[in-house]
Amino acid sequence: MSIRDVLVTGGAGYIGSHLVDSLVSRGYQVTVLDNLEPQVHRSGTWPSYANPKAQYVRGDVRDRAVFEPLVLASQAVVHFGAAVSVGQSMYQVDRYVDVNTRGTALLLDILVNTKHKVEKVLVASSIGVYGEGAYTCRTHGPVAPTIRGEQQLAARDWEQRCPSCGEHVQSIPTPEDKALYRDNIYSMTKYHQEEMVLLIGKTYGIPAVAPRFFNVYGPRQSLSNPYAGVAAIWLSRLLNGKQPVVFEDGGQLRDFVSIHDVVDCLVLMLEKPGADYLPVNVGSGQTVTILEIAQLLARLLGSAIEPQVTQTGRKFDIRHNTADITCARQTLGFEPKVTLEQGFTELIEWARNSPDGAVDFFDKALDELKQKGLLVQN
Ligand SMILES: NC(=O)c1ccc[n+]([C@@H]2O[C@H](COP(=O)([O-])OP(=O)(O)OC[C@H]3O[C@@H](n4cnc5c(N)ncnc54)[C@H](O)[C@@H]3O)[C@@H](O)[C@H]2O)c1
Ligand SMILES: [Zn+2]
Repeated sequence: MSIRDVLVTGGAGYIGSHLVDSLVSRGYQVTVLDNLEPQVHRSGTWPSYANPKAQYVRGDVRDRAVFEPLVLASQAVVHFGAAVSVGQSMYQVDRYVDVNTRGTALLLDILVNTKHKVEKVLVASSIGVYGEGAYTCRTHGPVAPTIRGEQQLAARDWEQRCPSCGEHVQSIPTPEDKALYRDNIYSMTKYHQEEMVLLIGKTYGIPAVAPRFFNVYGPRQSLSNPYAGVAAIWLSRLLNGKQPVVFEDGGQLRDFVSIHDVVDCLVLMLEKPGADYLPVNVGSGQTVTILEIAQLLARLLGSAIEPQVTQTGRKFDIRHNTADITCARQTLGFEPKVTLEQGFTELIEWARNSPDGAVDFFDKALDELKQKGLLVQN
């Protein structure tokens, strides 16, 4: 058997829709299951970019009556439908666990209790499962510090410290086998999703892969969703003539990976067995500070607006996390191609012509964080 029919949950969203395009162009029959979550799809209709060669079913991943027949008609399931925001998950706990964890549990329940033909499952995991990235201490070698305390943030002592000796430690790229811990509800659900899918996959011999996305950026990223990725939030601020807000000192290291490289990696996961039953980092392998990203966006936009560096921390934020992509390289032959300059130029081009426009709801989201006491005062 080979894969012909692919079900993509969340396929109207940002990453899913790009994957749908790529799969359609490669000759797959693609069906999308998406509930058009209002926070993501403000119009309440299928987005204008929805590929006309795919089939679209409006429904919820928690609804067995809709989900089961679609799974039964597919040889591969890409499970991306999810509630997607770290900050919001800290006060919409029930919704996040229900959509993400229970939605995945339902998929697995279907796979275990029906005569299906599914040969591959991909489940979207996240950098969030690591909590902090990997570090080395001059004295103790590789260490895995957990979240910084409120006191440390209030003292503006931004860099992580060694759990053994308390000295400042150096950030290094995070490999998949770094000790995991979660410091927010969204990341807990992502962790449960990947653990559950990989466990059921191994137990029942259904090849499964959990891509751990780092900071994915590119066209179709929601610019008006204040809970979306930082690059989109800042771009939306700049387009509205406002300063991008950069927490701490802006020195946080991240890995920004173009959506096109992400899609290439996902296709490799679907078509090749190399990464079966593994969680796999999906990043660019390049390291950049978030302040550099805010400045790059302003430069490419030709905007004179400087980022506002707050010198304040948020309770659930990590300091550094960058991707070690050796596993994707070795198991799949994955090689990222898009440079930051190319990728952000494309993002900006798209944002300028975005039919959705970039309505800036960031101040409202920031207010919500303040009200819930999630900003550290100093
Ligand atoms: N964008 C990133 O940088 C990033 C990083 C790590 C992980 N991820 C994961 O990748 C996946 C896709 O993320 P994205 O950035 O494309 O987000 P997105 O919000 O653009 O897409 C998610 C899609 O899922 C749909 N959806 C939400 N709840 C649903 C439900 N109950 N039933 C059916 N569909 C539902 C939404 O309508 C939306 O179209 C998610 O699982 C997310 O957790 C993304
Ligand atoms: Zn030490």
